[in-house]
Amino acid sequence: MREAVLRLGAAGVENPMRDARLLLAHVLGIDPVDVIMRETDQVDAAGLTAFEVAVQRRLKHEPVSRIRGWREFYGRRFIVTPDVLDPRPETELLVEQGIARLPQGGRVLDLGVGSGCIVLSMLAERPDVAGEGVDISAAALAVAARNAEALGVEARVALVQGGWESSPAETVDLVLSNPPYITADEMGALSRDVIDHDPHLALTPGRDGLAAYRAIIAFHARRVRPCGWIGVECGAGQADDVCALMAEAGLVELAAYADLAGIPRAAFGRRPQKAP
Ligand SMILES: C[S@@+](CC[C@H](N)C(=O)[O-])C[C@H]1O[C@@H](n2cnc3c(N)ncnc32)[C@H](O)[C@@H]1O
Repeated sequence: MREAVLRLGAAGVENPMRDARLLLAHVLGIDPVDVIMRETDQVDAAGLTAFEVAVQRRLKHEPVSRIRGWREFYGRRFIVTPDVLDPRPETELLVEQGIARLPQGGRVLDLGVGSGCIVLSMLAERPDVAGEGVDISAAALAVAARNAEALGVEARVALVQGGWESSPAETVDLVLSNPPYITADEMGALSRDVIDHDPHLALTPGRDGLAAYRAIIAFHARRVRPCGWIGVECGAGQADDVCALMAEAGLVELAAYADLAGIPRAAFGRRPQKAP
């Protein structure tokens, strides 16, 4: 462990102690807390070899979740493969605010479903609701399907290949999306953990990063159920622009919610009872 921490630190891994502990726990099949509790235990040769392989991968800046093949999100495990964005903790804000707005027996649409972390967390939390997840990537939809099954919610979710202007036959009460929003200029500054491992399609729509918001808000402001909500995750510094797009589309009761770092991350707007 000590040696791995030094090597990971020297390679510029941000939290070498935590990552070494998670990787050792993963290869030994134990809880990370037990790595601390059992620090004087011997690790056998097979365990040491597996640990070395995992450390080598992390030294190349492959994120821990991708080495383990899963990530915890909203208290549940989600399978993560190279075909999907590694779910981020700040996206839990969108789930939390979405759940608060979903009526009993409601329907939710998740645009750019990726691993399924948003819609599937909601369905797992709320046995009364059903949902649809849309993604342009068939490979991402296959991962979402595996996660739906693992969580036992596959009967309540439809996973459909399509673009931002896809809408289910049945009207929904809530449209959520964590779309690609990184600007073309910011792409060059991303860490290797992100740029080398998250799908490009999941990161950026190019230019000012707002293209997906423009399409989603303009289209779904007229299709979500009257009094229903649209909620999107925003990149740092984008919440004002996103709220302006919502206002322009006629949405009301606009609200933005900050993440733990104080950055406005989730923006919601409501379709009024009458037009649009
Ligand atoms: C930022 S990721 C979000 C994934 C997941 N919802 C999450 O929060 O972790 C954006 C997702 O949008 C999908 N996507 C990109 N362009 C799209 C488009 N034009 N229409 C539909 N989905 C798209 C990507 O394949 C990717 O899965």
